Amino acid sequence: MVKFAQVKGFLFDLDGVIANTSVYHAKAWHQLADELGVTWTEDLGNQLKGVGRMDSLNLILKYGGKENDYTEDEKIKYAEEKNDNYLKLLDTLDKSEILPGMEDFIKDLAAHHYLISLASSSKNSPLVLEKLGLAQYFDEKVDPATLKHGKPDPEIYTRAAEVLNLKPEECIGLEDASAGVTSINGSGAISVGIGDPKVLHEADINFNDTSEVTLDNIKKEMDKKKF
Ligand code: BG6
Ligand code: MG
Repeated sequence: MVKFAQVKGFLFDLDGVIANTSVYHAKAWHQLADELGVTWTEDLGNQLKGVGRMDSLNLILKYGGKENDYTEDEKIKYAEEKNDNYLKLLDTLDKSEILPGMEDFIKDLAAHHYLISLASSSKNSPLVLEKLGLAQYFDEKVDPATLKHGKPDPEIYTRAAEVLNLKPEECIGLEDASAGVTSINGSGAISVGIGDPKVLHEADINFNDTSEVTLDNIKKEMDKKKF
């Protein structure tokens, strides 16, 4: 494992790490689950975090024992319906929905000349970053439509390092989702889990919330663990 001084890049999840949008995704999926007759639980909500659109719908149907009840065309329509509801929730999205400390953290990274890329599963991520006024800080973005496998597969974090011309080992990935932490770990990057440490127990470093995420705190945690 690398030392903090060898880190050159940061790979960011978006929903639930930079933007308070994971609650909007959850709201829109909850609405669809109700319509499909699948009981919504906190556990289901956690399973969906970080997971792409069609994979999320398939998880909901499986959770409700309904995985064989719909054709592919019907599933596409349900996924579109969820996205329409999500987009309505984004209508009023602005800078106030940047999670605590994250704007300063991203600016600090840019000021220290770290390379920054986006590793979000969301096809709506360019829109969200624009609305938050943060798009200009990202050197590169992975387009989730170009991936063969979604999180928890490592592909997205492997690519997020590659597009910066870095090795994953030279990068730190930040996630609020268990599937995302698994993805970072599989790529070889250092994983920072933000949120409930019980849910994110696989992460190399844990913070309870985004306000704790600073370069100093990451360095302290890495020094403690002797990366
Ligand atoms: C992830 C979210 O970032 O993107 C998931 O954590 C969401 O909740 C996924 O399902 C896909 O997003 P979209 O916007 O492409 O449907
Ligand atoms: Mg997330």
